Amino acid sequence: METVLITGASRGIGLELAKKFIDHGYQVIATFRGEPSKSLEALRASNAITLHELEVTDSSSIKKLASALEGQHIDILINNAGVIGAEQQSFEMVETEAWLDTFRVNTIAPLLVSRALLPLMDQATNPRIITISSQMGALNSSSMGMYAYRTSKAAANKFMQVLASELKPKGFTVCPVHPGWVQTDMGGKEADITVQESAKGIISLITTLTLEHTGTFFSWQGEALEW
Ligand SMILES: NC(=O)c1ccc[n+]([C@@H]2O[C@H](COP(=O)([O-])OP(=O)(O)OC[C@H]3O[C@@H](n4cnc5c(N)ncnc54)[C@H](OP(=O)(O)O)[C@@H]3O)[C@@H](O)[C@H]2O)c1
Repeated sequence: METVLITGASRGIGLELAKKFIDHGYQVIATFRGEPSKSLEALRASNAITLHELEVTDSSSIKKLASALEGQHIDILINNAGVIGAEQQSFEMVETEAWLDTFRVNTIAPLLVSRALLPLMDQATNPRIITISSQMGALNSSSMGMYAYRTSKAAANKFMQVLASELKPKGFTVCPVHPGWVQTDMGGKEADITVQESAKGIISLITTLTLEHTGTFFSWQGEALEW
C-alpha cells in the first residue's frame, strides 16, 4: 500500500484528494493548519488517514512534521497548500510584503517541505513529488494582472523543473500540475470544474507517473503543458 502526503488538506482540492486517495486504497497523511476542518476530521473514521498540523511557511512546523513522521515512508508528496494572495495585486497596487507572503506559501514552502520530507521517500519504489501549480504562472501566456500569484506559480514551476533534473538520478519523478479552474474557495463558484473532477483527474495522472515523465508540467487531464 502506497502512502501519500497532502499539504493544505482541510478544504478545497487538498481535502478532495485526501478523500479520493483513501477510496483508492492509499494510506494518507494529511496536513492542516490551526485545527482540522470538520470534513477532514470526519475522514479519520476510515483509519487510512493520519492528520498532522503544518504551517507551510514556518520552518519549525515543517521540522516538527518531519520528526513526527520519522520511521514512516512516503511514496507521493503533494504540495497543495496555496494562496491567491492579496486582493490588490495589479501593476499599480501590488505591495512588497503581500507579494513576499504569496511567494512564501506558493513557491518557497513547497521547496522547504520537499527538502524536509525527502529522506522519508528514500525507500519508495516510485517516489513522486507533485506541486499543485497553475497555468496562471505559464510564461507562454499573455494574460494580465495578478502579479503576485502569477509570479509565485511561475517560480514554483521553475523550482520544480530544476528539482526534477537534480532528483532524476535518484529515481524521483517531480512534476508541477495545473488543477484546472476549480470551484473552491479560491477558484470561486463560477469556475469551470468541480473539485471532484479536478481531484479525479489529478489522481489518475499521479498514479500513472513514472520517471520518464519527470520535469513535465501537466494539466489535471494528464496533458503536457507549455511552461
Ligand atoms: N481553485 C483553482 O481554480 C486553482 C487553480 C489553479 C491552481 N490552484 C492551486 O491549487 C491549490 C489548492 O487550491 P484550492 O483551490 O483548493 O484553494 P483553497 O480552497 O483556498 O484551499 C487552500 C488550502 O491551502 C491551505 N493553506 C494556505 N496557506 C497555508 C499555509 N501557510 N500553511 C498551510 N496550509 C495553507 C489552506 O488552509 P486553511 O484552510 O487553513 O486556510 C487550505 O487548506 C493551491 O496551490 C492553488 O494555488 C487552484
